[in-house]
Amino acid sequence: MKVLVIGAHGQIGQHLMRLLSENQDHSVRAMVRKQEQAEYFEGIGAEAVFADLEGKPEELAKAMEGCDAVIFTAGSGGKTGYDKTLLIDLDGAVKSIEAAEQAGIRRFIMVSAFQAHKRENWNQDIKPYYVAKHYADKVLEQSNLTYTIIRPGGLLNEPGTGLIEAAENLERGTISRDDVASTIMAALDEEAVYNASFDLINGGKAIKEALQSFKKE
Ligand SMILES: NC(=O)c1ccc[n+]([C@@H]2O[C@H](COP(=O)([O-])OP(=O)(O)OC[C@H]3O[C@@H](n4cnc5c(N)ncnc54)[C@H](OP(=O)(O)O)[C@@H]3O)[C@@H](O)[C@H]2O)c1
Repeated sequence: MKVLVIGAHGQIGQHLMRLLSENQDHSVRAMVRKQEQAEYFEGIGAEAVFADLEGKPEELAKAMEGCDAVIFTAGSGGKTGYDKTLLIDLDGAVKSIEAAEQAGIRRFIMVSAFQAHKRENWNQDIKPYYVAKHYADKVLEQSNLTYTIIRPGGLLNEPGTGLIEAAENLERGTISRDDVASTIMAALDEEAVYNASFDLINGGKAIKEALQSFKKE
């Protein structure tokens, strides 16, 4: 597959870009905003394209042209205000979904947040962020795209273990960004998680086996 990564220079994004650029079965294009990031990705054998989530859906659709899949792992981060939460985590995500439909892309993987689908379990300290994630995920579920929504627990910068727990509802936990990237990578062409949404933390199952447990009877 040819994959566009939105948020390619983010912390999960960089792990994912490394995995995708080393993989023989996929080719990858990084969506970036800065020249030095484009040069970095071209240096590791990936393509790079400039686009901003605050831009028009048509510009995002152009950035996706020729791709088979889109991965959204962007975010406004904890250091900006809730205006950016609306503009990036909600509107930026929804525009990316609209753009993927416009560009004729079939596959879309969203990095969401733990329990974003369950209002009663949202972290009340960052409620607007959860609102953004919740509604962006809903738009994706109602789109024509073949989606997978991954809702990781607290993200850690620890080495990957290759062992996860993935289910529709989990008790709160943490996961390394490296393992989130490996899970996204494994989910790309894993039919068992087509049109599936799940919480994700580190656990005791190999990634492939954990994803295959979503297989419908
Ligand atoms: N922190 C947690 O514990 C946690 C838990 C669950 C889920 N998540 C979610 O996991 C995802 C990735 O997390 P992370 O830690 O890898 O994030 P990160 O390091 O903050 O990366 C965010 C990425 O989004 C990009 N971005 C921001 N504004 C943009 C815009 N206007 N246009 C295009 N790109 C833009 C940034 O680009 P630049 O490089 O140009 O700045 C960066 O590449 C996010 O969706 C986050 O909400 C986080």
